[in-house]
Amino acid sequence: MFDKIYLASASGTESVVKKELTRLNYEPGGAEYGLIPVTGGIPDAVKLNMALRTANRVYMCVAEGMCDTFDALYEFVRAVPFEDFLPSDARVIVNAKSHRSALFALSAVQRVVKRAVCDRMGGTMSESGTTYPLLCVLNENRALLMLDTTGESLHKRGYRTYVGDAPIRETLAAAMLLLAGYRGGVLIDPFCGSGTIPIEAAMIATDTAPGLNRAFAFENFGMFSAKTVRDVRESLTAEIKIDAKPEICGYDIDPKACETALRHLSAAGLEGKVHFQRRDVKELSSRFNFGHIVTNPPYGIRLGTDKELKKLYRCLSERYAAMRGFTLGVITAYPFFEKDFGRRPDRKRKLYNSEIESVYYIFNAPNKAR
Ligand SMILES: C[S@@+](CC[C@H](N)C(=O)[O-])C[C@H]1O[C@@H](n2cnc3c(N)ncnc32)[C@H](O)[C@@H]1O
Repeated sequence: MFDKIYLASASGTESVVKKELTRLNYEPGGAEYGLIPVTGGIPDAVKLNMALRTANRVYMCVAEGMCDTFDALYEFVRAVPFEDFLPSDARVIVNAKSHRSALFALSAVQRVVKRAVCDRMGGTMSESGTTYPLLCVLNENRALLMLDTTGESLHKRGYRTYVGDAPIRETLAAAMLLLAGYRGGVLIDPFCGSGTIPIEAAMIATDTAPGLNRAFAFENFGMFSAKTVRDVRESLTAEIKIDAKPEICGYDIDPKACETALRHLSAAGLEGKVHFQRRDVKELSSRFNFGHIVTNPPYGIRLGTDKELKKLYRCLSERYAAMRGFTLGVITAYPFFEKDFGRRPDRKRKLYNSEIESVYYIFNAPNKAR
């Protein structure tokens, strides 16, 4: 047990989660139902929780098997030696998901799994101790029982304490940056809002693991020793390039947004790594010849009317035309983006921005850095 890990990723971000895993020296298997498997034990689960920028959650596999009846599910779960890792006062919470499987009534699946765990543990559990969240996924009758080691989703890095207008999830911001090929250097977000994209860029540019300043569910699990957690945190901290000067700018027309962004930058421990300034996109330019623009402009659904958006996207297009050494990545749910922006993207993919179906458009820099 505990030699396989599953990473949960948002729809459209599976390939970028896999790339991150490869960079961290793991060999990811194929994504199924948003879950990407890797071989790894407890120290790996700690490292992946702290280091991955784009995954939502890290699960440790407890058991896998075929189950197409509730009896089979009960026997499958009851065969797991829970006593090896659950304390007798554990509070076990069970969630369930089902996809193309004979067992699809989720509350019944949850009940059967919970009863099997309780029976295996001797029939009674006081449930007064640490919470152990289990997830049972049934996919084409294959049951996957996993322990959620993350707790609050990984997009909650801990630095975003003030809420701005329509903020983007931190994991999605990181995925946009990595998909556009950003690894450090010049980055501009002309619609920075509360600063999420520039702050994630600063973390990438300085090799700062995004989970160093937050708590995880695993910290309360007995089998995760405090020494293992400390060792992983120390080794990731040692990798931070404190002296990196990445040249990252975040602009917004709203001065309050810039203030909020600065507070978030400081909460992330990255003071001085991003320059935030009140600026209209009409004035977008850079003193550099090469770099990236990655941004999340107003959408229409949440901010702005169609007429204003048309003007805004035309303006972005005009300013971008003069920045020929810049790769541009824009996420929007505005349906007329390509028409109003006036050019075809080199790549595009469907991504979800807090449940809103959006498209991420990438325009490669016409002039390449030598
Ligand atoms: C969708 S929000 C960006 C949210 C941001 N990604 C975050 O995580 O907080 C769009 C931002 O565009 C800004 N904005 C609207 N019109 C603008 C303009 N003409 N120039 C610059 N910023 C503008 C708004 O003030 C708002 O903060």
